[in-house]
Amino acid sequence: MNHSLMDIINTRHSVRDYSPKPIAEAELSTILEAGRLAPSAQNRQPWRYIVFTDPAQIKALAKNTGLVGMSNFFIKDAPCVIIACADTKKNVRINNQDYYLVDTAISFQQMMLVAWELGIGSCWLAAFSEKVLAKYLDIPKTWRIVALSPFGYPKDEKRLFSKAISAFAGSSKRQALEDMVSFRKPQ
Ligand SMILES: Cc1cc2nc3c(=O)[nH]c(=O)nc-3n(C[C@H](O)[C@H](O)[C@H](O)COP(=O)(O)O)c2cc1C
Repeated sequence: MNHSLMDIINTRHSVRDYSPKPIAEAELSTILEAGRLAPSAQNRQPWRYIVFTDPAQIKALAKNTGLVGMSNFFIKDAPCVIIACADTKKNVRINNQDYYLVDTAISFQQMMLVAWELGIGSCWLAAFSEKVLAKYLDIPKTWRIVALSPFGYPKDEKRLFSKAISAFAGSSKRQALEDMVSFRKPQ
C-alpha cells in the first residue's frame, strides 16, 4: 500500500456489487479504529457501531431494514455490514444544530476511506426505515440510526442496477469548484 490520501479520496466510489470474500479480522479492526479516532464536538464521540459479519444474519438484516425502494437490497451479498448509530445522550447542540450527525458522519467516512485504502468498498445508505430497523436491532431508545453500509471487496462484474445508479449519481458527477467556493476579497 502506498497511496496518498488524495488518491484514496479520488478513487473511492460507492460499491454496490460485492464479492462474498470475508474481510480479515485485522482489516476490520483497522477500519473500526479509523472510526474511533475521529474528531467530534466536545470530543463526545456519540457514534455506536453494530457490526454484522455472519452471512445468514446479513441476509436476514437485508430483509428487515424496512426497505425503501430497491436501493439497499445489495447489502445481502456483502461479507460485512456496519450500522452507524449515535447515542443522542452524547449530542452537542449549538446554534440549534445537533452535532451527533456531523460527528458520526466524520467517523463513518474515516472508516470508509481507510477501508478503500485496503481495497475494501462501501456505500453510504440512508435507504432504510429507522423505526423498523431500530426495532429489529433492539437498540437503546436514545440511539438514532444515522446510516448503514456494506463493507467488502468489489466484484469485477457490475450489475445493470449499479451501472445505472453510477451513471446518474456517480463519482464523476461533482459540481465545479466555483459552484461550491467563494473567496472573500481582501478589504
Ligand atoms: C448520506 C448518504 C446517503 C446515501 N444513501 C444511499 C442509498 O440509500 N442508496 C444508495 O445506493 N446510495 C446511497 N448513497 C450513495 C450516493 O448515491 C453516492 O455517494 C453519490 O451518488 C456519489 O457517488 P460515489 O459515492 O460513487 O462517489 C448515499 C450517500 C450518502 C452520503
